[in-house]
Amino acid sequence: MEQKKWNECVAYQIYPKSFKDSNGDGIGDLRGIIEKLDYLKDLGINLLWISPIYQSPFVDQGYDISDYYKIAEEFGTMEDFDELLAQAKKRGIDVIMDLVINHTSDQHEWFQKALKDPEGKYGNYYHFCKGKDGNPPTNYRSYFGGSTWEPVEGTDLYYLHAFAKEQPDLNWENPEVLAELYKMINWWLDKGIAGFRIDAIINIKKHPDLPNYAADGDDGLVKYTTMVENTEGIGELLRDLKENTFDKHGAFTVGEVFNVDEEGLKEFIGPDGYFTTMFDFTGEILSKGKHGWYDAPKWDFTKWRDKVFEAHEKIRGIGFYANVIENHDEPRGANRYLPKSLQNSKGIKMLAAVYLFLPGLPFIYQGQEIGMQNFTAKSIDEYDDINTIDEYKKAIAAGLTKEQALEVCNTHSRDNARTPMQWNESENAGFTTGKPWLKVNDNYKTINVESEKANPESVLNFYKEAIILHKEDNYKELFAKGELRACFTEYKEIFAYERVLGDKKVLIAANFGESAVEVEKDLGEGIILLTNENIDNAEKNKLRLSPGAIRVILEKE
Ligand code: NOJ
Ligand code: CA
Repeated sequence: MEQKKWNECVAYQIYPKSFKDSNGDGIGDLRGIIEKLDYLKDLGINLLWISPIYQSPFVDQGYDISDYYKIAEEFGTMEDFDELLAQAKKRGIDVIMDLVINHTSDQHEWFQKALKDPEGKYGNYYHFCKGKDGNPPTNYRSYFGGSTWEPVEGTDLYYLHAFAKEQPDLNWENPEVLAELYKMINWWLDKGIAGFRIDAIINIKKHPDLPNYAADGDDGLVKYTTMVENTEGIGELLRDLKENTFDKHGAFTVGEVFNVDEEGLKEFIGPDGYFTTMFDFTGEILSKGKHGWYDAPKWDFTKWRDKVFEAHEKIRGIGFYANVIENHDEPRGANRYLPKSLQNSKGIKMLAAVYLFLPGLPFIYQGQEIGMQNFTAKSIDEYDDINTIDEYKKAIAAGLTKEQALEVCNTHSRDNARTPMQWNESENAGFTTGKPWLKVNDNYKTINVESEKANPESVLNFYKEAIILHKEDNYKELFAKGELRACFTEYKEIFAYERVLGDKKVLIAANFGESAVEVEKDLGEGIILLTNENIDNAEKNKLRLSPGAIRVILEKE
């Protein structure tokens, strides 16, 4: 079978709990996804990432797996999954699963057995260590707050969890664990999935001495990532993983990877890299506060733009990125990347085109294509996400008022992206006939698939047009592997670049500022391939960009 050219694809991420509920229990499910495959095909998607659907207690919404071989009851059955896979294939859509192998759920059989006998076979599947003088073994802080070590009742032992205490970390130094994981991965690949999005993979390698590091917060703890960043040897684990699984199936893989240095990039996503690609998290990294969401820096457009160019420059000649502006761990892109005055359909279209035409493989997160936005919770009780609750507490501990802490969550919460998909203007946005597990965003009467389908000027129809262009025979190679040339970077509010392949050159130019900008450029006979505004014929050869304007232009010398 001929390998798909992954960087000519357009991918879509489904967060199954919030996509479409088919049986009225308020929770999205596999049959709901099947119902909407035609919608995805019509949008132009040919690669589909489904966030975890395995059996899980859902402490971290499925990123805590209690059985890798079972579909969560809430989502349906293995038969539903097989049908989903077959129906997707029929429509030219490859499916990738989420691979969560840094940790399992504490309800996984392995961990339950380990708890009963930490010194036995299954104890060695995880990391159990003795405490020190009545304290946990080290001073690491988990991603979701507090120590990474949870005491085991009735013993002097603790177990390690980089995330929630219900997500114990697996021991990748144990060959039995590797054998179990490889078997499971190959089992799914044998089923015919195209590959995986690989969760939190950078955390699998632990420092052999588990040293303490200097505290970086008032709690006396240090970020877990400090240990990760000071630990060598993850490459051997990842190579072994790839050779024993992905390579055998020609699988596509996209890594959730942060903090790889320039040397590492080649090893991660070079021609023989551990993964096919990895996400470019530039936007996310720039939004991180030193201590939490409460001290996040003010959004700096120019810095983001320059860093995006820099990121692509670093992988020039090495590989390609998976480009994202949204996922289930981030607030909505419209609210993060656009100034308030451009958080409308015009601005959202501009943001879409700017990232869709960068080199690499674009991932669209559910609802992004209709311009879904953050919601405003009136109380912390409206939040479900474990991470949000922790960040709220952190903000309060740092001295913010309840109102301020809530505002921080409204800006940064992962639940912003997890509210139910807005299908139409009927009750609960057509997501469910029951009570949705998480509140639907109040704006669903205006922002929804059905009404946008009917409106030729909608965000949805713009996305469709952009995707058609991305995949068009004339341009797909250019967008996949054409050179990237940053342009007009002296204009602080302009995001512009050329994509160049042979004698074909396409200019993408956007104005993220709040006033019009005329860029010094004579477009001559250039042809506008895509734009979000009506351009007067007399103005056609000028690059005068109103606030929120985007133009994609085939240049003619
Ligand atoms: C990254 C996932 O995207 C996130 O949702 C999850 O909480 C952590 N990894 C832990 O699995
Ligand atoms: Ca359901």
